[in-house]
Amino acid sequence: MNFLILAAGTRNKIVQYFKRTFEGEGKVIATDASELGPAIYDADKYYIVPSINEPGYIDIILDICKKEKISGVLSLIDPELSLLAENEEKFKAVGTTVIGSSYELCEMALDKMQMYKWLKDHNYLCARSWMDKEEFYKAVDAREVTYPVFVKPYRGSASISISKVYDKETVDLLFAHEDDLMIQEFLNGQEIGADVYIDILSGEVVSIFTKKKIKMRAGETDKAVSFKDDKLFTLIEKFVLEAGYKGQIDIDIFEINGEYYISEVNPRFGGGYPHAYESGCDHMKLILENLKGNANMKNIGAYVEGIYMMKYNEVKIMK
Ligand SMILES: Nc1ncnc2c1ncn2[C@@H]1O[C@H](COP(=O)(O)OP(=O)(O)O)[C@@H](O)[C@H]1O
Ligand SMILES: [Mg+2]
Repeated sequence: MNFLILAAGTRNKIVQYFKRTFEGEGKVIATDASELGPAIYDADKYYIVPSINEPGYIDIILDICKKEKISGVLSLIDPELSLLAENEEKFKAVGTTVIGSSYELCEMALDKMQMYKWLKDHNYLCARSWMDKEEFYKAVDAREVTYPVFVKPYRGSASISISKVYDKETVDLLFAHEDDLMIQEFLNGQEIGADVYIDILSGEVVSIFTKKKIKMRAGETDKAVSFKDDKLFTLIEKFVLEAGYKGQIDIDIFEINGEYYISEVNPRFGGGYPHAYESGCDHMKLILENLKGNANMKNIGAYVEGIYMMKYNEVKIMK
């Protein structure tokens, strides 16, 4: 029952948790494009591989899967998720299960406009969004939206090039300097993160962990506290099943006056997952059971409220 983590990067905790859960069951192997990716050194074994855009990349990964008798594989970076989904059959042919969502859902996660359209068409509360600034100005004139708004690249990540904008002049200026921007209504509320596991075998939502974000830093949750709300669990379960996500996902949500607005989905382990694991939501175990052919029992909200997470820096020294 060996497991492969692709693009391990700086996600040392994820590698450590897999090792802890897979202890006595199999090896945990990690890859990175660089010898200086610290997380690979926490795995039982590692491979340095080309970057995902290199021709032949996927064949190299398939060879590792064959050689190391890998049962399950996942990636920790967004651009690789679609690639794995696209090649799911090839992995199956070498006996490896891809822990991830469909190609369409991985692509939708990269495109904030596509995500917005899906949410709107399926009647979920979400931030109204525009690609066309003239359409946005019409909505302002019609008093359908007010400043401030968020302007950001529709395929952006890690909070790069995101601006909170208070007037038309600044919207014009940003659009003049950068292509592929979108405008989004300001969700003025409490930011929430959800770590969710959807059973690969049964398709059921089996685990949900939710936390209120207390402080953000460089596009990541820096401090957070666990909480529970049945209304939110019900919404997450409905949304996830309707969209058809599989395996591990991370959802960004806003709460405004008791209503939940869905913002973004990352169909992978999010940067804040250690909070869920350390609070008792061991999703590595759920993956292990799935790989053994066992569906997991539904166990939503299996943690206590009021557990705080505070991030701090670590270093790895190699001689
Ligand atoms: N429409 C919005 N309303 C309120 N806050 C926002 C909005 N858009 C972005 N933000 C803030 O910026 C952060 C990053 O934006 P997000 O859309 O999640 O992009 P990324 O893909 O870079 O994570 C969010 O976590 C939130 O703090
Ligand atoms: Mg985000």
